Amino acid sequence: MRDYLVVGTGLAGLSAALYAAQHGNVTLVSKYSVTEGNSSRAQGGIAVVSSSSDSIETHIQDTLNAGAGLCHIPTVENFIAQGPERAQDLSNWGVQFDKSGNENDLTREAAHSERRILHVKDQTGKAIHSALLEQVRLKSNIKLENHLFLIDLITNRRIKSYDSEFIECYGGYFYNQKTKEVISLLAQHTLLATGGAGRTYLYTSNWPGATGDGIAAAYRAGASVANMEFTQFHPTCLYHRDERNFLISEALRGEGGILVNSNGKDFTKEFHSAGSLAPRDVVARAIDSEIKRTGEKCVYLDVTHLNKEKLIHHFPEIYKKCKSLGIDLTSQPIPVVPAAHYICGGILTNANGQSGIQRLYAIGETACNGFHGANRLASNSLLECLASASNAIKDTLNTPPSTLDLRVPKWEYTNSQNEDELAVIHHIWDEIRTLMWNYVGIIRTNKRLQRAKSRLENIQSEISEYYWDFQLSPEILELRNIAQVADLIVTSSLTRKESRGTHFNLDYPEKAQSNSKPTVV
Ligand code: SIN
Repeated sequence: MRDYLVVGTGLAGLSAALYAAQHGNVTLVSKYSVTEGNSSRAQGGIAVVSSSSDSIETHIQDTLNAGAGLCHIPTVENFIAQGPERAQDLSNWGVQFDKSGNENDLTREAAHSERRILHVKDQTGKAIHSALLEQVRLKSNIKLENHLFLIDLITNRRIKSYDSEFIECYGGYFYNQKTKEVISLLAQHTLLATGGAGRTYLYTSNWPGATGDGIAAAYRAGASVANMEFTQFHPTCLYHRDERNFLISEALRGEGGILVNSNGKDFTKEFHSAGSLAPRDVVARAIDSEIKRTGEKCVYLDVTHLNKEKLIHHFPEIYKKCKSLGIDLTSQPIPVVPAAHYICGGILTNANGQSGIQRLYAIGETACNGFHGANRLASNSLLECLASASNAIKDTLNTPPSTLDLRVPKWEYTNSQNEDELAVIHHIWDEIRTLMWNYVGIIRTNKRLQRAKSRLENIQSEISEYYWDFQLSPEILELRNIAQVADLIVTSSLTRKESRGTHFNLDYPEKAQSNSKPTVV
């Protein structure tokens, strides 16, 4: 009998648990509550070929075009070819995509040459997440644990008697937020599905827990991490004093919404012939440039020319949120700004999610498997979650089960408390997020990156002082991870001497033909 440890309860984690439950016992771990996370915030939908006018080849080509020469083509082909089968898995698990008559109601997003996005109104992530969670709860061989925070992975490097040339993973140390104790969870196969790291930036569409925990832990354990310079900024997050993280789905532009400045002028056409539906990196830079040119705080997404009933029917959540903040999107343009949305890099894996550490898999946004290259195509991420989870679980069947008769050293920690600790943590956290936004944002320069690098080095030493000297808490663990991930983003950005996809450096504004290789650190 195999056993699996799945860390993270977004779409990648839940689907991996369901696939794995066909072969063994699963411990599925969430750092807060299983209902929180980025997957359930996904509005747009899942990009899958399902209409007769579309084809696998076209979806592959759109993905490669958006990826700006850095996609790993076999991974792209593998994930996209299995799209229809993975969408069928979702239907089998109870997800009901919107229909138009007997056909799927397909929406469009930027840089897709066809309508191919399966969706459930503007709450696709929520609908998928709750359907899968219901399935997980029905499985007696999936043990769901909330409030367990991954501190570090357990590998042979931590167990002296298991010293060897290669690194092998046996599970992880977890901080139990209820008991305030550290426990170890062991498994034959560990899968990291901890999502992205949008919270490294001041402005982000991500949920508060998107702190790159899996990426940071795998890196500390010796795994390679790739393409961390490619932070994708979503062009349209709501700009409002009281709401900083609400996404305004690209599907609104897919349905005809247009980005304008405060004079009502569509400025995006000056940057790309596809205007508001150009690839995300282009649109985000166009907005950044327009905001800098005009000195205004935001631009606007105008959907007032679209059919009012259709808008309210397709986008009820966005309509409701805007309305609650005094914006009626059917009659007034929505103020928007770009915000950190998705990290195209992550733990370096192959298409099966295998990392450089044996028995350790990374799936979904946590991984860099080459699917997104330098810029992710909209709505490809939910497909990636399912395809990488399915591939990884199949791959575990080729790995001989280990006996796992290990003497894992106890996690050593202190219980000393510092009254000022929380205030200091919040201060450093703010500092990292602000410096990442200001120095490592949409437009970068060598000088700004160097400045960020030296400040982050100091911050990391300050954190290790706090980390080792005081009692563990989710705040200190998250801070340690965002500092680590921020440093990986900056280091990778300094390594890439060109501009490509979401990484734009004014000191090297062109794409270098000879540089289409991932950045591996
Ligand atoms: C959106 O709805 O705009 C987000 C879709 C995505 O990030 O893939």
